[in-house]
Amino acid sequence: MMDVGRHPNINLLTYSEVEKISGYVGNFHVVIRRKAKYVDEGECTACGDCVTVCPVIVPDEFQQGMSSRKAIYIPFPQAVPSSFLIDMKNCLGTNPIACGKCADACEKKCIDYDAKDEIMEVDVGVVIVATGMDVFDPTPIDEYGYTRFENVVTSMEFERLISAGGPSDGHFIRPTDRKRPKTVGFIQCVGSRTEKCGNSYCSNICCMNTIKDTLLLKDHYPDIEAKVFYIDIRAFGKGFEDLFNRSKAAGVQYIRGIPGEITEDSNTHNLKIMVEDTTSNELEEHEFDMLVLSVGVTPRWDMPQVQQLLTLSKTPDGFFMEAHPKLKPVDAPTTGVYLAGCAEAPKDVKDSVTQASAAAARAETLLSAGEVTLEAITSTIDLETCRFCGMCAKVCPYNAIKVDPKKKTLEYLEALCKGCGTCGAECRFGAITMKHFTNDQVYSQIDAHLAENPQDKTIVFACNWCSYAGADTCGGARLQYPPTQRLIRTMCSGRVAEEWVLHAFRKGAPMVVVSGCHYVDCHYIDANRWTQKRVEKLWDKMEKWGIRPERLLLEWISAAEGQRFQKAMQDIEALRKTVTREEIEHTVKVLTEEEEKKKK
Ligand code: FES
Repeated sequence: MMDVGRHPNINLLTYSEVEKISGYVGNFHVVIRRKAKYVDEGECTACGDCVTVCPVIVPDEFQQGMSSRKAIYIPFPQAVPSSFLIDMKNCLGTNPIACGKCADACEKKCIDYDAKDEIMEVDVGVVIVATGMDVFDPTPIDEYGYTRFENVVTSMEFERLISAGGPSDGHFIRPTDRKRPKTVGFIQCVGSRTEKCGNSYCSNICCMNTIKDTLLLKDHYPDIEAKVFYIDIRAFGKGFEDLFNRSKAAGVQYIRGIPGEITEDSNTHNLKIMVEDTTSNELEEHEFDMLVLSVGVTPRWDMPQVQQLLTLSKTPDGFFMEAHPKLKPVDAPTTGVYLAGCAEAPKDVKDSVTQASAAAARAETLLSAGEVTLEAITSTIDLETCRFCGMCAKVCPYNAIKVDPKKKTLEYLEALCKGCGTCGAECRFGAITMKHFTNDQVYSQIDAHLAENPQDKTIVFACNWCSYAGADTCGGARLQYPPTQRLIRTMCSGRVAEEWVLHAFRKGAPMVVVSGCHYVDCHYIDANRWTQKRVEKLWDKMEKWGIRPERLLLEWISAAEGQRFQKAMQDIEALRKTVTREEIEHTVKVLTEEEEKKKK
């Protein structure tokens, strides 16, 4: 951090918030609020005279609330720049000045109670999102008694307690009697790998963090008895298994089982747990002076705001989604935006640094090239045909289109278009098409597939990133699926227009399938939300026309789900066999009539 602060090419803006980002790759315009610190950071020498006289005492967030700070403070010891700021929420007040002691004590006169937030605007070429993570709050897990029992602490609190710069100056003590505990237990996976209370994903860092903590503990106090309760220890990574073995060799006991409930002895404040050791299948009781809950990692609370600022997508876990898990692991779906650290997924320091270096290199590659190569698959808009209804602007996940229906103007920034094609599918007037996936190209594919024995075929529209890749996985694994299915690739299921489905039915297809990424996994942010709406509308229409809605299916299949793809295709084939010749004839007749009506 010191290096970053001193670097001539890095402008470090601390205590600042990004309020707005507009533009696109190479031309981002960023509005930043620089919050008032009320202390002139250039003049402050961090002598601390102001702190001595400040009468306000509040819990210190950096020490997890286990010690206190003043209203004028440095947020944490290694903060860059190392200068004070005033926490105005807790300061006794500046209007009128109710205290003013810090200003009197400051020889350099660098305290200014009238300082105001500053708004600054910068133009940048790329943006790297490295917003970090939050830790899981175990308070709602009632059986662990966190906050009810003082000697139950989180792994974050343990870190502070054992740190030389911590609230007890590195003397490891338990909160109730401030004595050194003799027995310490660690409970793993608190808030991770659970559907009950917490998150279903593995938080990645907790196993190794606990192993490191036990080593620290044994290193400082070899006589302390430490036990770790776990589901399984995930010590993958360079040197991690070695560390795990060192912890066991140091005398730390690892017990495979997660305790049910923690109870406290009201006299001694010792903690008791019952646990089933799944290696011996025995129920055991353990007593500890102190218990550490190894809490998981959660997405940062302000992720929705950042997501909106940069039109990013999130994974079902709530972290930001990369453009491609293997080929573009640090790129966000929005060109010119990169991800680093826990903003993308829970990861340790080494992985965060690796990803941050990769993101910086990706950004530098783009900036030094001086020009950007854009995706060839983008939409094209015919302004002659356009009626300026604004539907395309409404469905575009990247805000690439702006329409003013009153003024009858349309502004389309092709550089922002990622090529999902949702605008083309939603345009009722045929004003929008998509390069390489035009209506004519898709109709030709449908016609070719259904040219012979259409009653035996199923048309499957599959999105490039998930379902089509799922079919690939299925094939790669040599899983067989019926040869009657005919796949038509689209970039996103959002591109599948109503007219395409009807065209396939008109040509005699007994079944049509629209298939894409799982609902929150769409590679074009939330474009498949519109797929779902479109298919639902079609089901209603089919019902009205006397066509069985089951003949149009919507399937969400991911790239990894080869088996699921096979099963879905087998089920669809079974359904196809139930579609009678009369039904197909009726469908062709009704839809041709509908088409005729439309033309008139
Ligand atoms: Fe697969 Fe949108 S990219 S449904």
